[in-house]
Amino acid sequence: MEAAAAKRKEPRKALRVKVISMGNAEVGKSCIIKRYCEKRFVSKYLATIGIDYGVTKVQIRDREIKVNIFDMAGHPFFYEVRNEFYKDTQGVLLVYDVGSKESFDSLDSWLAEMKQELGPHGNMDNVVFVVCANKVDAGKLRVVDESEGRLWAESRGFLYWETSAQSGEGIQEMFQTFYSALLELCENGGRRPGPGAGLGFTREQADAIRRIRATKDSWDMLGLKPGASREEVNRAYRRLAVLLHPDKCLAPGSEDAFKALGNARAALLKNIK
Ligand code: GTP
Ligand code: MG
Repeated sequence: MEAAAAKRKEPRKALRVKVISMGNAEVGKSCIIKRYCEKRFVSKYLATIGIDYGVTKVQIRDREIKVNIFDMAGHPFFYEVRNEFYKDTQGVLLVYDVGSKESFDSLDSWLAEMKQELGPHGNMDNVVFVVCANKVDAGKLRVVDESEGRLWAESRGFLYWETSAQSGEGIQEMFQTFYSALLELCENGGRRPGPGAGLGFTREQADAIRRIRATKDSWDMLGLKPGASREEVNRAYRRLAVLLHPDKCLAPGSEDAFKALGNARAALLKNIK
């Protein structure tokens, strides 16, 4: 009896998770980790050489989690060092700089690099990704807005946070949410909760918003060839308006896309007899 009672009181073993950071050089990966672990910010750029490794313990609900963090160098030069570290990863901090469109556009190639290194049997569906839109303190220098970043992340089932390693904005909350999701993953037998669970929008809606954002041309926005008839314009408009109406579509950026559609239709109809 006593032995059983003692066993019941024994704290549960700490979970061990492996986390890596990914993203172009200079986007702030090391600073984000430093801000969280050491509560400080270094403004001088000290490029990570290959990999930096650290361990941290965190308490989430009633569980202790031992997090092994591999902070990767973003520079292409270090690819040969980095590629060793992708396997057995449970969580990824995927970082871009909101002042650098190039760093945002590179997110896909980071996913591709990880996929390639994991090989044909690797499974990225069961990895928790948190996308950090970093340097939000940059103010006017910002070129990637929140809805664009959020849409990219959420349409892939990734978490999204706006962060500043400089001011500390979002850092604590981001890690807290990230570790909670990792705990959930471990308690769910290593599987990420179903794709698109609770997303509130479809792939088709996300793709349509992305297409509309990517162009200034009214024909392109409606998915039509120049010279289409009034009827075709109205039909295309109606289809997209139903798809993206902000009352029905919860995808980030749906409101702006819906407005852009209305303007595109009005501009085209003005010039069609
Ligand atoms: P690599 O190790 O080369 O891949 O770069 P990294 O992504 O680790 O970048 P690092 O954290 O070293 O930061 C790069 C530069 O950006 C440094 O000069 C930092 O001071 C600066 N920086 C990082 N985070 C922020 C931020 O939130 N705001 C601002 N304004 N600057 C930041
Ligand atoms: Mg670094």
